[in-house]
Amino acid sequence: MSAELLRTIPEIRSRLAEVRRSGCTVGFVPTMGALHAAHGALIRRAWEESDFVVVSVFVNPTQFDRGEDFDRYPRTLPADVEFCAALDVDIVFAPDAKEMYAEPHLTLVEVSSLSERLCGEFRPGHFRGVATVVAKLLNIVQPDSAYFGEKDAQQLAIVRKMVTDLNVPVTIVPVATVREPDGLAMSSRNRRLDAGERRIAPTLYRALQAAARRVASGATSPEEVRSAAMAVLGSEDAIRVEYLEIVNPERMQPVERIDGPVRIAAAVWIGATRLIDNVLCQPPA
Ligand code: PAF
Repeated sequence: MSAELLRTIPEIRSRLAEVRRSGCTVGFVPTMGALHAAHGALIRRAWEESDFVVVSVFVNPTQFDRGEDFDRYPRTLPADVEFCAALDVDIVFAPDAKEMYAEPHLTLVEVSSLSERLCGEFRPGHFRGVATVVAKLLNIVQPDSAYFGEKDAQQLAIVRKMVTDLNVPVTIVPVATVREPDGLAMSSRNRRLDAGERRIAPTLYRALQAAARRVASGATSPEEVRSAAMAVLGSEDAIRVEYLEIVNPERMQPVERIDGPVRIAAAVWIGATRLIDNVLCQPPA
């Protein structure tokens, strides 16, 4: 099977109008391309719940806070289309920036408070770009359900709130983080790691697990839990911690005491590559 590649908004609108007239439900997986097994998990989940599956591939310029990161982001459209075809995706929507942001583009979507901490603190404007492009893509595709990975937990929380606040008629479905056998969360950025960096990259997940074990064994002090993770990260000189926080999973704000479920979220730099990961954990009953 081949996936149909569409590049313009009128084309995808008219194709999806036909699909909806025939009574099919539409599942949507928004991506920035460089597809890998974690995107495969989103697509498979979409197939479990939809009659027709659309994947978008768009490296969204408005969510990059550093030009060089945008320039270096991998662009592999032919391989992405093949990847989608192998998973029976019906449509790959791959607009260019002019198609998505006709000049002058004056409207931005800001989900305040949820965007302030964690990645929001270190990547100014990032989540405004994400919320804006996701709102636009949802308006273009008008899917029944849209699928997002839990690796980007803050993005997921922001998209959910945006959809609720703006009354967008779509179900947002979270999909569990897909990991390499050594625990490293799959990400398009992993391909930037050289062999030495790749070897130490799983330390991030090991650190989060060490912190999660403290929570599971009854630690209530965020500082104690944080120290357990920092001790693991500190064992590798090449890792620079950008943030490591213990937050409320809905509000994405640091907790003062652990007395319910928390998300432990971190961003680290290994060389020139920034990696993020998180785990949801529960204190003992
Ligand atoms: O997670 C991503 O790949 C992007 O942030 C998204 C949701 C496709 C928006 O550009």
